[in-house]
Amino acid sequence: MKQELGVCYYPEHWPEEMWAKDAVDMIEAGITWVRIGEFAWSRMEAVAGTLTLEWLDRAIEVLGSAGLKVVLGTPTATPPRWMIDKHPDMLAVDEAGNPRKFGSRRHYCFSHEGYKAESARITKILAERYWKNPHVAAWQTDNEYGCHDTIISYSEPAKTAFQAWCKARYGTVEALNAAWGNIFWSMEYFSFDQIDLPNLTVTEPNPAHVLAFRRFSSDQVVAFNKVQTDILRAHTDAPLIHNYMGRILEFDHFDVGEDLDIASWDSYPIGFLSDRLEASEDHKARFLRQGDPDMQAFHHDLYRAVGKGRWWVMEQQPGPVNWAPYNPAPLPGMVALWSLEAFAHGAEVVSYFRWRQAPFAQEQMHAGLQTPDGREAPGMDEARAVAKILAELPPQETQQADVALVFDYPSDWAWHTQPQGAGFDYFRLVFSAYRALRRGGLSVDIVSASCRDFTGYKAVFAPGVATVDPALVEAVSTAGALGLYGPRTGAITKDFSIPASGRPELPDLDVHVDLIESIPPHAGIPVAGGGTADHWHERLSGSAEVFLATQAGAPILMGQNKRWYLGSFPNQALWDRIVAMACETVLLPVSTFPEGVRRRQLGDLEFLFNYNATDVQLGETKLPGCSVVVRQDTTTIAICAPQTCLD
Ligand code: GAL
Repeated sequence: MKQELGVCYYPEHWPEEMWAKDAVDMIEAGITWVRIGEFAWSRMEAVAGTLTLEWLDRAIEVLGSAGLKVVLGTPTATPPRWMIDKHPDMLAVDEAGNPRKFGSRRHYCFSHEGYKAESARITKILAERYWKNPHVAAWQTDNEYGCHDTIISYSEPAKTAFQAWCKARYGTVEALNAAWGNIFWSMEYFSFDQIDLPNLTVTEPNPAHVLAFRRFSSDQVVAFNKVQTDILRAHTDAPLIHNYMGRILEFDHFDVGEDLDIASWDSYPIGFLSDRLEASEDHKARFLRQGDPDMQAFHHDLYRAVGKGRWWVMEQQPGPVNWAPYNPAPLPGMVALWSLEAFAHGAEVVSYFRWRQAPFAQEQMHAGLQTPDGREAPGMDEARAVAKILAELPPQETQQADVALVFDYPSDWAWHTQPQGAGFDYFRLVFSAYRALRRGGLSVDIVSASCRDFTGYKAVFAPGVATVDPALVEAVSTAGALGLYGPRTGAITKDFSIPASGRPELPDLDVHVDLIESIPPHAGIPVAGGGTADHWHERLSGSAEVFLATQAGAPILMGQNKRWYLGSFPNQALWDRIVAMACETVLLPVSTFPEGVRRRQLGDLEFLFNYNATDVQLGETKLPGCSVVVRQDTTTIAICAPQTCLD
């Protein structure tokens, strides 16, 4: 597999005379891909129907003839001002009923047919003009679906489309009433056009209504994206990509990914640590300038699955960002570490955001590889160091890990709809399992809940999967793997009711959930042998074997035939025990890695990452602070540390 560097560039932000030198400097830094175009609609079509693309022709020519491969973005995340005059009702509407106005970006509702047609029109114009262009080697659809909370819209077009969606799904309004349990509180409908969107209700709306609306909202994103991919596919064989984000769960990325060739995501480790993760103040202080040691890896593994094996980092943080509550600078070495970590997880390309810091508008405080006046910013040298190491490493292919972790977007929608306890969050639960697996030194594959072939996996973890198809459970067993389910796995039907056979709805497992309680922070229930059950505790009964119990003797982990059910939300110490027990059962070696040190296997290369600012000794190997050590057959073949490769 070829692994390369890229950069995001905005020719429309700079005088044309600068483009050629920028292109040469990119090549000099070891960059081979450049993404352009995704926000430039007002320069492509300043007046409705009058296209001005000559500047884009020239930009592509300048970049391409310097040796760069271009990723061309469709500009639909930033419809120009005239679009709002033409389609005044295209703006998304927030939960309080207010339109989300022009003046930033992503100001559109996925359900607006007029805007969808405009998006198709501009995509077709670009596809027809550039499909033959030898420099355009990949396409990006739109930009970051879901950024700025833009998936869910309570607009009139969304309402009409939701009514049609309900009709297609349920057939008759009686069937819908029965599925949702609308007899409760006399919420029954008598025709589909009576169904409103689930906002502005007096108290909470029916969770079945909300979950249906969430599924609908996700489907609208898939449909919007598909309009573009259908057009692009009719013109080009170049790979189609979308740039997803970190911990954005409002649409099913696996569904969108079906229509794309490559998944990519935008990785901002320091911003995410401060604004997107539950962690102690100590943890946040320790990794303030490095980012969380598992957050990036989790998304690398997630998007490898979404991309069916092919994935990139489309935007890599190169220095301080502008959008988090606090925006510290990365420690020396971290930009290189993040980049190499992505490659260790199988990324084909890591592309920095952005080439040169913008001197104007919203992101003028966001670093680039160059300062606004064109000097090199600290990230530039690190990009060079990465390019050098990439050139030296033997080429590798990603191989299957021993452990799979199921990730299921609808489960997040379900538990978000009815958390039952403020601490219960689907991402938080799955991520805590992922962290524990990584603390044990394991490489992990993330898979979707539609996976039915687990051949080669020794263990499959599926915590919190709200509705489980029995075929998934059977497939895990057929592969001979240990399946770890719960808490809350198999807890509801697709229409948000308690399964007729009770909880959990898992085949051939005699475990019953008799009572559920949620617990406030710091009131965790102590577990015999160590660790606590936090946030969530189920009272379990049944004939399955009890593997773990609370100090008071209540079972929390039960199982039979390598089918395990966990009734609680484990804290870190308890997860470590569960991972160790599972690994022991399937004879998988597990170690305990020092805090902030992580490992990832890529082909026959072993990558060790030290997210700590200080040196760590790992057996015979010294890991300098903020470093990456690459080993092959236990021999160190490369080190990327601030004091070595970066000097
Ligand atoms: C991303 C986005 C970019 C830029 C960047 C700043 O979310 O795709 O356009 O805004 O964040 O960090």
